[in-house]
Amino acid sequence: MIFRSRSLPALFGFLLAAPAFGGPLEDAALYEQACAACHGSDGRGRSVEDRGFELELPDFTDCEFASREPDPDWHAVIHEGGPVRAFDRMMPAFGDALTDEEIYAILRHIRTFCENRNWPRGEFNVPKPLFTEKAFPEDETVFNLRADTDDSDAVIFETVYEKRFGPRGMTEVKVPLGRRNSPQDGAANFGFGDLTLGYKHALHHNLERGSAFSIGGEVILPTGKEEDGFGSGSTVLEPYAAFVQLLPGDAFLQAQALAEFALDGPAEDEVAVRALLGKTFTEGEFGRAWSPMLELLAARELRSGSGATLDVVPQLQVALNTRQHILLNVGVRVPVANRQERKPQIVMYLLWDWFDGGFRDGW
Ligand code: HEC
Repeated sequence: MIFRSRSLPALFGFLLAAPAFGGPLEDAALYEQACAACHGSDGRGRSVEDRGFELELPDFTDCEFASREPDPDWHAVIHEGGPVRAFDRMMPAFGDALTDEEIYAILRHIRTFCENRNWPRGEFNVPKPLFTEKAFPEDETVFNLRADTDDSDAVIFETVYEKRFGPRGMTEVKVPLGRRNSPQDGAANFGFGDLTLGYKHALHHNLERGSAFSIGGEVILPTGKEEDGFGSGSTVLEPYAAFVQLLPGDAFLQAQALAEFALDGPAEDEVAVRALLGKTFTEGEFGRAWSPMLELLAARELRSGSGATLDVVPQLQVALNTRQHILLNVGVRVPVANRQERKPQIVMYLLWDWFDGGFRDGW
């Protein structure tokens, strides 16, 4: 017997008539029986009069919403009910009524409602590293904090606002603000850093192969005071490519290659490669996600060929709330080659994936 819940007696007749599952028809029939009463046969959600409660239902045909939700998150909500991700309990738990196989059959059907394959799937939205740019276009606000352990006692607070633009695009603004001891007299200075404007485009994504690839570019404007150590004093153009490969066991590889070209001012042109390996661990079957990552940062100045640096950044990202759209990442950037007086830097961010809800929602 496949449906064990007594609250779904209507299902038994259907089960007698449909002994085998696996094809699109069976996927649709399962959805029809278990979900359509609320979510509608067309996936848009039945009307308030039909279903008898006020709560707004998700529209599975809306690719902008549906594409970004990874299967494991929806599997958790279907298995455990809405509250497992701080949604309403009007979304029932089907963990006792449906096998995992059936839940995935229904998910296959739900995925047919969004017909535009242009949108990269949320599976590629792997944990954000502290330095490497992701391949996935995000809707999020990130608060970065970087604290130097050298004599500058520098603390830079940077707000990053990222907004998706169509299925594959993303625009970005970064505003740094900081304090550091003056190199001349040691007095504390406060100031803005260099403002960054960026655009990123997902060129390729293939869920079967688990890989996605993007290109992007940033313009870094010399808005920070160079003499106080808050800016490079140059307008810098930074083209880059970003790549993600999903690996078995919730592991992932991310990489970014970039170049920085100074259009004016004193900054040197530079090339850099950033890469990391990480893995997500879940508390219990559906609980809080913890993602340790090890990031490598290599950079080299182009003209002089000198000043090549290599840093490692061990870090741990954790989901703070039940919805898992507020995340904290803490790490240390440790110079390992050509340290040149460089000391470790403490780096962290607080990330708010605002498409999934307000900052105070979902705790
Ligand atoms: C009794 C009505 C009802 C039934 C039956 C029902 N759902 Fe839901 N479902 C809801 C409601 C209401 C929400 C929205 C909850 C919220 O936003 O707080 C929801 C939300 C969801 C979500 C979360 C979408 C998101 O925002 O990420 C998924 C996925 C989902 N349902 C899948 C299913 C599947 C699959 C079935 C059948 C196995 C099903 N639901 C059956 C009422 C229902």
